[in-house]
Amino acid sequence: MARPISIHVCSACGHETPRWAGQCPGCGEWNTLVEEVRASSGAGARPRRGGARVTGVAPVPLRSVAAEEHDRLSTGIGELDSVLGGGIVPGSLVLIGGAPGIGKSTLTTMALANLVAAGRRTLYVSAEESAAQIRLRAQRLSEAAALEIPVIAETDLHTVLATLEAERPEVCVVDSVQTIHSAELSSAAGSVGQVREVAGEIMRVAKALRIAVLLVGHVTKDGALAGPRVLEHLVDCVLQFEGERERTYRTVRAIKNRFGSTDEAGVFEMRDHGLVEVLDASARFVGEATRAPGSVVLCAMEGSRPLLVEVQALVSSSELVPPRRVVSGLDRNRVALVLAVLGRHAGIGLGAADVFVNVVGGVRVDEPGADLAVALAVASAAKRVALVGPSGAPLACFGELGLTGELRTVAHADRRLAEAAKFGLAGAVEPGGCRTVREALRVALGGEAREAARAA
Ligand code: TYD
Ligand code: MG
Repeated sequence: MARPISIHVCSACGHETPRWAGQCPGCGEWNTLVEEVRASSGAGARPRRGGARVTGVAPVPLRSVAAEEHDRLSTGIGELDSVLGGGIVPGSLVLIGGAPGIGKSTLTTMALANLVAAGRRTLYVSAEESAAQIRLRAQRLSEAAALEIPVIAETDLHTVLATLEAERPEVCVVDSVQTIHSAELSSAAGSVGQVREVAGEIMRVAKALRIAVLLVGHVTKDGALAGPRVLEHLVDCVLQFEGERERTYRTVRAIKNRFGSTDEAGVFEMRDHGLVEVLDASARFVGEATRAPGSVVLCAMEGSRPLLVEVQALVSSSELVPPRRVVSGLDRNRVALVLAVLGRHAGIGLGAADVFVNVVGGVRVDEPGADLAVALAVASAAKRVALVGPSGAPLACFGELGLTGELRTVAHADRRLAEAAKFGLAGAVEPGGCRTVREALRVALGGEAREAARAA
């Protein structure tokens, strides 16, 4: 058998070198060399150009390709199934990314427990925790079958692959891709080369044996760790687990899905006995909304589902140059843009103020429809005017801000409005009713904003 050797390949120019170096000897780029396994010679090695003749294959029209019907495996967790597009597709590779402590191990353990209860063969490979630690987690869960999940605590890639071949589970969790190690590479577990090799080998075995694999991967808050990023093109489905560890609410959304839409998102709450699906998230967030100056309810879209969330802002005079901009749950650059539009087109200058903006409950909103909510919350905080209707119900809003101060339409306006009406919000400020940010502020804040606008 060919003995595998490892080489370092430049990800920019493809130059190969046996030893790692900080700078690629080929193109001179820095930090581009990534370790890879290469069979040295003989069987398994790619035939050389000019060597043995390679014959082509006959192409077939798509019509005569058998369309595979996927009977999906239900995880027993409705929100997770819908994010996956209706359950796990047999033989598929799903990457579940998220910050440490967010609940990836909990979610995957719950899914396996339900699959075990449904009579499926499963396997939980833990390369992070001992079997005893996994048992402790499983004991907390309300799923009785959690203690029946077959587990191995193993970090060596080839042992994991051999176990997959011997056990042939239908669904396997690998927790996590960064802690499994291939002995053929000299680099440390979690390095780009290792992560790619581990995922690639697991995929090869899993596809051959039709094992669905849920691959857990850690990402830091800003997605900085290169690990799971390099896998996105390789896997069938990428799920992103978001939220803050200290908060109870978490969302799972699909960033990529070869077998379904990327529109769905699920909302969960971490409780004492595991993650619980939050089906009435809008009702809760509206119920908890403070109705104080600086607070506004945003009609956001979580995939194809409307979700009402509270956006809060605090504006206070600053002693710092430049003043502070602290944002959580929203895109920082988007908030900076909104603040600039407020200053230029609505006469609300915040150059000498610290501005804090937050989406309540640890929810993350990544859509342009949130712009108006930021603008209204900040304006409401700056002017100390509460955004409530005559009945005292919070005001709802959504819409994108353009650089010239115009309010732009966003998708699914009807669904957003219906959700706001369903939860008794006091009308909605949105692009259908206002054409500019100035107009929206006038409607939302009443007389005081009008004066400010005139003064500007
Ligand atoms: P975990 O699934 O281990 O996170 P990850 O695998 O993403 O790193 O769990 C995260 C946190 O959730 C951990 O701090 C403990 C807490 N937790 C609960 O609050 N309730 C529970 O039932 C379980 C199992 C965990
Ligand atoms: Mg974990």
